[in-house]
Amino acid sequence: MRRILNLTLSFLLLGTAVSCSPPKSLYQTSGKIQALIQTKTTYPEARFIVVSDTHYFDPRLGTTGKAFQAYLDKDRKLLAESSELMTAAVQAIEKLPADFVIISGDLTKDGEKSSHQAVAENLARIVQSGKGVFVIPGNHDILNGEAIAFDGDQTRAVENITPDEFAVIYEDYGYAASLDRDTETLSYLAEPVPGLWLLALDSCLWKTNEPGKHSRSGGAFSQHTLQWIESTLIRAKREKKSVMAMVHHGVLEHYPSNDNYYPQYLIHDHERVAEMLAHYDVMLVFSAHFHAQDITRKSFGQSGKVIYDIETGSLVTAPCPYRIVEITFDQKAVIQSRFIDTIPSHPEDFKTYREDYVFDGTIKLGDAALKKYMVSEKDRQRLNPQIARAYITHLRGDEVRPATILDKTELGLWGRLILALQGDLIDGWYTDLPPADNQVTIDLTDGTYQNN
Ligand SMILES: [Fe+2]
Ligand SMILES: [Fe+2]
Repeated sequence: MRRILNLTLSFLLLGTAVSCSPPKSLYQTSGKIQALIQTKTTYPEARFIVVSDTHYFDPRLGTTGKAFQAYLDKDRKLLAESSELMTAAVQAIEKLPADFVIISGDLTKDGEKSSHQAVAENLARIVQSGKGVFVIPGNHDILNGEAIAFDGDQTRAVENITPDEFAVIYEDYGYAASLDRDTETLSYLAEPVPGLWLLALDSCLWKTNEPGKHSRSGGAFSQHTLQWIESTLIRAKREKKSVMAMVHHGVLEHYPSNDNYYPQYLIHDHERVAEMLAHYDVMLVFSAHFHAQDITRKSFGQSGKVIYDIETGSLVTAPCPYRIVEITFDQKAVIQSRFIDTIPSHPEDFKTYREDYVFDGTIKLGDAALKKYMVSEKDRQRLNPQIARAYITHLRGDEVRPATILDKTELGLWGRLILALQGDLIDGWYTDLPPADNQVTIDLTDGTYQNN
């Protein structure tokens, strides 16, 4: 019954996990590797910016008209403003002192070739300001069958891109200068600062996307890619490099019951992936996909190994964030967050506009889903704003629990049943798993943290 009703709130995004159960990793079976992973390296000083889920939509593909409006009614990203938001982010980044920028996937709305080309042109401006740029694909970016343009009340398919084209379009943003590449995915290894390796991991399922259909939302690594990751981490240990990772899908749960609700936002078998990364001292993993500002932490028993999943929200979803990370000489990672607070079309009211937009969008999506499950209009009117408030609170991060999580008064029997079975999702969105989400300092020597 719970499983059936879990579908009720799955209006946020549909996806599928894949099944595979990899054999044990080398760090679990080899004495030599177990000795190697005890060696420590020192992080070099570095300063970088994290951006994610830019979901750029080429304005030349149409951002007005009936068909575009109909699309927006089923979405809650600021797609009409994506170009302005990209420009604002690039302008902010140009002015900031930093060594490099990482963008952890979902670069485009739905993988349109011209959107990708426009993203690359924007990234060129960042490079011109003296910073390296490193990207990976998100689930929307490659072989997406819903790459479309809007014209009046019509839509038409436009060219999407293949994985090979992704590596060519973004050759100056990770691929050309990579130290190594996985042969099966768009994962690569880069060294943005001498001594610091960036493991840029492609967790997307573009291999199984179907023509004419939306790309798959879930994420997984094949056994081949897991072995490539581990061999790269062994190499890093031998060459005394510090390693951090970026990946579109999460490696840790971002709220209680994340594994039950929306598991497609986490990498399949994510505990195993997180444990392996942690054992090779990959303490910082920059993820994306859910569009929330959320950092979570896990330590692995007596090994003392710790991993942080630092999820960055979407540039086109309130609060339109990006992060600034500084690795200091005394081995601290100081994480700060900034927000795009103004764009030309909303010079004064953008902070309110962006929040209202996602709030209203969530109500629309939630209402349609609850309607499908025969929840009465009266119950929907009472539930929708409560669900939307919980969701937007999670997107902002640093959640503060309200006195009443859910007001059940005046709900009908069916509305109450839905809540009895789904209420822990709303509770989860109001639960801020440690550490803080927007400003935090991580001690890279022992994995402790301090909320700033
Ligand atoms: Fe996204
Ligand atoms: Fe995504």
